[in-house]
Amino acid sequence: MAELIRTGIPGLDQVLKGGLRRNSSILVTGAPGTGKTILALQFIYYGAIDNNENGIFISTEESLEVLDQSAKNLGMDLKSMVDKGKVFFVQKPIATLKGGLSSIKGLVDAIRKNNVKRVALDSLIFFEYLYPRFDGNKMEFRRQVLIFMQEMKKAGVTFLVVSERSVTDFDRLTYDMMDFVFEGIILLSRIRKGSYFERVLTVAKIRGQDHSLDVYPVTIGHDGLKVLVDQTPFSLVEKEGDGFK
Ligand SMILES: Nc1ncnc2c1ncn2[C@@H]1O[C@H](COP(=O)(O)OP(=O)(O)OP(=O)(O)O)[C@@H](O)[C@H]1O
Ligand SMILES: [Mg+2]
Repeated sequence: MAELIRTGIPGLDQVLKGGLRRNSSILVTGAPGTGKTILALQFIYYGAIDNNENGIFISTEESLEVLDQSAKNLGMDLKSMVDKGKVFFVQKPIATLKGGLSSIKGLVDAIRKNNVKRVALDSLIFFEYLYPRFDGNKMEFRRQVLIFMQEMKKAGVTFLVVSERSVTDFDRLTYDMMDFVFEGIILLSRIRKGSYFERVLTVAKIRGQDHSLDVYPVTIGHDGLKVLVDQTPFSLVEKEGDGFK
């Protein structure tokens, strides 16, 4: 049996029937504001706090200062973990990226040197910028992401990647070629019920692993992002009378 590691997201390990396979590569995808960055941050932060696994968080957008501030409101003292050398924060503003993947080598060295076990990349935009996905280049984009994934695998880390997507209605989902590259996909979305949106999560796939296919409610609050494993989303519960006879 492959070793499963705890994700750091309350409830998610139950959805995954034990956790994430060590050394796997997982895509976390969803619309803006669905909690992708928070989920990735918890994976790194609680990986270090609860599992003693050092982590690297690569951010293409937010600075450590900005992220630290929002982490505080979610019950995480990110800066203290950075100061302790348990979490490494790498900011790669896309505007400054040059030189293709030459930076991978530096990252792999840092993983080895600092005994890093988890890496989160927020987000795949990192590669979009380097290898724009215009028609003639799609394969190069995919190839470079695969190379990066393989490097992370060789380095022995569990790798979580965030990607944006515009349509996250579970009934109208279309799959992107990157969805086929990763071993697992976690989808975050919002479902509307009347005048109210509810946050939800589902696991679309984990290769070689049994997991729940249900849709679960998610909450984000002062203690972070949680999956409510014991509940069916309120937005999906049929009104009395509409249901099955
Ligand atoms: N302290 C908090 N309490 C409650 N909700 C919060 C808190 N902090 C953030 N949120 C919610 O989380 C959302 C942001 O989550 P996050 O940044 O992880 O989204 P994202 O999916 O990464 O978005 P984007 O695609 O824009 O990067 C906010 O829009 C807000 O609704
Ligand atoms: Mg984000």
